[in-house]
Amino acid sequence: MAYRAIAIDGPAASGKSTVARRLAEQLGLTMVNSGAMYRAVTWEVLRREMDPGDTPEVLKLLRQVRWGCVIRDGATIMSVDGVEPAMSELKSDAVNASVSLIARIPEVRTLLVEKQREFLELGDLVMEGRDIGTVVFPSTPFKFYITASEEVRAARRAAEGAADAVSERDKQDSERKVAPLKVADDAVVIDTSELSIEQVLEQVKSKLNELGW
Ligand code: CDP
Repeated sequence: MAYRAIAIDGPAASGKSTVARRLAEQLGLTMVNSGAMYRAVTWEVLRREMDPGDTPEVLKLLRQVRWGCVIRDGATIMSVDGVEPAMSELKSDAVNASVSLIARIPEVRTLLVEKQREFLELGDLVMEGRDIGTVVFPSTPFKFYITASEEVRAARRAAEGAADAVSERDKQDSERKVAPLKVADDAVVIDTSELSIEQVLEQVKSKLNELGW
């Protein structure tokens, strides 16, 4: 039997990670945070004090390093030559500031998209990111685009205590040539600006029901 993927895309701090995590818990599915994979590559670039804008150097690194990706406790963990960066390191201000530069490099995307697709060989899953419904799993009927107003998103990120120029990151993610952030034609769009997490989850689950999940 072929496994099924629920794709959850959207801009930074839209609430998609929380929705994806809770949904995966409630439905008993593996949760794949694809952003953490782009963040892990960025973390390694910065750890080596390389310039994230220097694409030829990043490409060299991509070939040198062993990039691992495993599922543990229902979620994916990325390793870099056997070392697993902590979530706090992946979410650091420095990584926030550079991740979009790394994510626009086509070879980085090819490597990570391949790993993301391999997860579907293991079971049904929820995957969140920017291009899951458009590029990684374009044929899945279960697609959601979770968004919120720019003000609400900036306030949510600030409340987490992170220095994160979300609108700048969104601009870079939306304007890049390869796999830009955009709404898939067949995605269900949910604006969470005035909704609680519970309300968003209810909407997602009722739509999944309708779609025959
Ligand atoms: O948590 P937040 O929404 O702020 O970001 P994230 O999902 O951790 O993604 C971090 C960055 O990775 C994004 O700003 C994109 O540049 C990149 N990304 C991507 O290009 N494609 C994905 N499928 C997921 C993330």
